[in-house]
Amino acid sequence: MAPSAPADAGERGDATYDVVVLGGGSGGYAAALRAAQLDLRVALVESDKVGGTCLHRGCIPTKALLHSAEVADAVRESATFGVRASLDGIDMAAVTAYQEGVVARLYKGLQGLVAGRGIEVVAGHGRLVAPDAVEVAGRTIRGRNVVVATGSYSRSLPGLEIGGRVVTSDQALRLDWVPQRVVVLGGGVIGVEFASLWRSFGAEVTVVEALEHLVPNEDVALSTALERAFRKRGIGMRLGARFAGVDQDDSGVRVHLEDSDDVLAADLLLVAVGRGPATAGVGLEQQGVELDRGFVVTDERLRTTTSGVYAVGDVVAGLQLAHRGFAQGIFVAEEIAGLAPAPIVESGIPRVTYSDPEIASVGLTEAQARDRYGDGVETLEYNLGGNGRSQILRTAGFVKLVRAPEGPIVGVHAIGARMGEQVGEGQLIVNWEAFPEDVAALVHAHPTQNEALGEAALALAGKPLHAHH
Ligand code: NAI
Repeated sequence: MAPSAPADAGERGDATYDVVVLGGGSGGYAAALRAAQLDLRVALVESDKVGGTCLHRGCIPTKALLHSAEVADAVRESATFGVRASLDGIDMAAVTAYQEGVVARLYKGLQGLVAGRGIEVVAGHGRLVAPDAVEVAGRTIRGRNVVVATGSYSRSLPGLEIGGRVVTSDQALRLDWVPQRVVVLGGGVIGVEFASLWRSFGAEVTVVEALEHLVPNEDVALSTALERAFRKRGIGMRLGARFAGVDQDDSGVRVHLEDSDDVLAADLLLVAVGRGPATAGVGLEQQGVELDRGFVVTDERLRTTTSGVYAVGDVVAGLQLAHRGFAQGIFVAEEIAGLAPAPIVESGIPRVTYSDPEIASVGLTEAQARDRYGDGVETLEYNLGGNGRSQILRTAGFVKLVRAPEGPIVGVHAIGARMGEQVGEGQLIVNWEAFPEDVAALVHAHPTQNEALGEAALALAGKPLHAHH
């Protein structure tokens, strides 16, 4: 049973906790929930709302917006399926109300969980004032261990000021109008998700990406397929283009690129060039916690350079994903409780980009596998053209498997509608180091999109069913 906080816990300035968690986002609240479950006394310090970026400004509201976008497209394409309907328009107030309703229900549930496990939530901005003490709103809270989970913020570029018509995802989520023309700076995850949804809402969209490809961290086959699909959807792209500057006035923005006389005129510029670590004003360095370009340096057990101080989530360099934060939070709670959990393998963490088409991946890209294992690496692409459910949904795409020489499948990469839902099996395959024969021997339900994974494994095992050899 989890202990419940004493009634006077809120008033006790010197309360000693087993764990003081700094930041109530995905990483922080997961650490707090798991620690409480392990009978540790926990304080959770949060200056805004428990749930953090993912719940309030990130994953959840953006995926709700993307769902509205999908509904708009479904209506637009309804005649393809023999259904007569017409799209009258996008009611942003109603879209926002739907999005906020989803967030509100999840927030209520999370608050209930946190309270139910006897975690003391301390409101305010926390600062580390000793390796075992955090100061919040004039009160000092002591803990045997401190977990830094302060998260990340939307970065901009030097000299590029956010304001007015130049926005980050924080403001983009709360727009009460649909822009007619948008420039998206950065073709990473946030950039392509917003490009996708604004296009579905009817906007003219141009993505400016400094590197040669969209989603440049993914297997290049996925990047290329996404670019092809975006081109077909009429989304403009300036790849290998560097941003030079932007002017704005009441009527719009004018975006300038390096080495180009073109001026991209639009209603709005979305800046999506990455998220930086939220470590300013937290007092970390003063207590000996080493930072590297603002990120907290940790070892594989998520210990910082200060004894008793751990860090989890976006503040630790690596994949900035909520589910990585959850896993790291659970890991640290178990570590503090003495359970000696196994370290988290970063390359085994699944990644999903919820654009249309959707991208899902886990493990090594083909290029990474070739770097690690050499020329004997084998790959197989199974086209969704042969997958019944995908044909019913009228989606194009493929599943790509990457195999170590004569060895297990080390990478699973997929693109197409709803492919995010396939990453679950993908991660079991990669993390359990399955051979193609292992997966081929398992029966995949027909007709599902999941079958594409089974078919890909059958083909890689040398016995394709609905694929050419
Ligand atoms: P990102 O790092 O994914 O992409 C930023 C992009 O901007 C890069 O491709 C980079 O080359 C480009 N860029 C940087 N400077 C540029 C310049 N001067 N001119 C043109 N292009 C430039 O970062 P993003 O998209 O802002 O997302 C931040 C974090 O949030 C990511 O780490 C991501 O994992 C996470 N996130 C995850 C989502 C998901 O899992 N579905 C959804 C949204 C965000």
